Amino acid sequence: MDEKRRQLLAGISIAGAGVLLNACRNTQSRTGGATNDENKNEGPAPGEAEPVEVTATEDLMREHGILRRALLVYRETVVKLRQDVGSVPPDALEKTAKLFQVFGEDYHERKLEEVFIFPAVRKAPGAAAGYLDILLAQHVRGREITDYVLSISQADRIASNSIEPLAKALESFVRMYEHHAAIEDTVVFPAWKAAVGANELDAMGEKFEDIEHEQFGGDGFDMALKRMEEIEQSLGLSNLDMFTAPSLG
Ligand SMILES: [Fe+2]
Ligand SMILES: [Fe+2]
Repeated sequence: MDEKRRQLLAGISIAGAGVLLNACRNTQSRTGGATNDENKNEGPAPGEAEPVEVTATEDLMREHGILRRALLVYRETVVKLRQDVGSVPPDALEKTAKLFQVFGEDYHERKLEEVFIFPAVRKAPGAAAGYLDILLAQHVRGREITDYVLSISQADRIASNSIEPLAKALESFVRMYEHHAAIEDTVVFPAWKAAVGANELDAMGEKFEDIEHEQFGGDGFDMALKRMEEIEQSLGLSNLDMFTAPSLG
């Protein structure tokens, strides 16, 4: 992935994902082996794994995985903010919020959940429909908080009178979105899967892939994953073992 593409995904130099479409044409496909639509049926390059089919619900849930990793950055940032604001690089926070906006809000929420998932679940029997108005309100609240985080983190340094309001905003965002994604994973997505049926689910998987390529000009998940890994690396959060709980003994 080249630097320009990475910057575009992070939204550093653009206002919306529309620019991504033209900027990222010649990028690796979702299945790993192809470089664009014309040769996406070619096999993987030597040394690369065989492409693996991703179902629509798996796709949605792994997108939550990216967003959960952003929430982890927010949670760790809250601790650092209160201990030593100088240890929080504003640009890492900005990149995380931009990733959440471009990949989570503008794509996952606006292009998939609000267009396909929620309308189908609203018509389906069962308890899932009862969550939808709250989930939609949480999308709106999340975007307000993301805008706020961006407004604070775009400065060269975080002002001292912004520390506690920012910490509280991040904490409330993490608390809300963790529960939000958990309800979608365990109640809403299963209800949607049951409502559309197996054949339609396959078709939706294809559709989601088309939307993703249209939105990002390539494999948005791979791009977001790479970006997330870079952010974690820059903040010293990339070692999974540092999160292993201490022994009780
Ligand atoms: Fe959602
Ligand atoms: Fe979601």
